[in-house]
Amino acid sequence: MAPSTEQRILRNALGSFATGVTIVTTRDADGADIGRTANSFSSVSLDPPMILWSLARTSSSLGIFQQAEHFAVHILAVEQQGLSNLFAGKSKDRFAGIDIERGVGGVPLLKGCAARFECRTVHQYEGGDHIIFVAEVTDFTHSSSAPLLFHGGGYGRIMRPKAETRSFATRPETLSPNDLTYLISRLFHDLRDTSARERRKIELTDAEYAILTLLGHDDGQSVADLLRLAAQRGAEVDRPICDQMEGSGLIQLSDSATAETHAFLTPKGREKMTMVVAAIKSAEARCLSRLDENERWILLQLLGQVASANDKGWPPAPAGARN
Ligand SMILES: Cc1cc2nc3c(=O)[nH]c(=O)nc-3n(C[C@H](O)[C@H](O)[C@H](O)COP(=O)(O)O)c2cc1C
Repeated sequence: MAPSTEQRILRNALGSFATGVTIVTTRDADGADIGRTANSFSSVSLDPPMILWSLARTSSSLGIFQQAEHFAVHILAVEQQGLSNLFAGKSKDRFAGIDIERGVGGVPLLKGCAARFECRTVHQYEGGDHIIFVAEVTDFTHSSSAPLLFHGGGYGRIMRPKAETRSFATRPETLSPNDLTYLISRLFHDLRDTSARERRKIELTDAEYAILTLLGHDDGQSVADLLRLAAQRGAEVDRPICDQMEGSGLIQLSDSATAETHAFLTPKGREKMTMVVAAIKSAEARCLSRLDENERWILLQLLGQVASANDKGWPPAPAGARN
């Protein structure tokens, strides 16, 4: 039955409580592996070690979990969102192609989780439209992987401030570490210096670099478009520079007798860009090495969101995707 409006409002209110995501697994009487995604998991007791979770009465796996003596709870790591969807879905064989180990009672154990608890059911309680399983933890493992989160009906990631958050005095005549421009500039100078040094080494001017970057994103653009886009990005370029670049073998220009002239990267142009990009990426990796994988993901997500809100058609859509 579809939930009533009131139920939906209640579910939304309950969704304000952020949780981790678990997969609870067991084995049925015929030896088939069973698993369901659940965020109703909670710790109960340390001595003796006990946990609980609840399963909808409507779940096709209810009878199996009610009869199982043993089950395992897997607290998922951020990179296991796909597994969460798989075990919440309708797949007949959720374990197909998944590398597992076996626990007590032959219970399937998933690998690569943030934590894993092997459990023995000790109580089952009526919980309205759910059954609550309370279990003793018989064994567990734990890793430092960042956990996957669930909140408001969607997945999330944890972000913990490392340093004490300081607030800086704001003065109208200066930018401070409260300002995006201040923070971005500090990083950008570092990265830009690396790029400039590499370009000097391989004798690539700023204008040539601007043209090659544009062609790297969208090869075969018209020279008119290239000059316009490069100018928008603050590069001083003109047609003679394109002719010079063709002379030095960095780009190739199409025959302009009848149609508009188009520019193409040559292998030499591509090779030079590959060298600059490799130098920038290694400087980037140095900057980002202060963060763990999860923090890097969050930083790039957030910057991507800010940048795309501010996007003026850059980078251009691949040629095939444009009308
Ligand atoms: C993040 C997430 C958390 C969930 N938590 C629970 C839960 O705690 N209890 C539950 O019964 N179902 C939960 N579900 C739904 C089940 O994973 C599953 O979709 C449902 O049991 C499907 O019905 P079936 O068991 O008949 O296949 C959750 C689903 C998701 C995506």
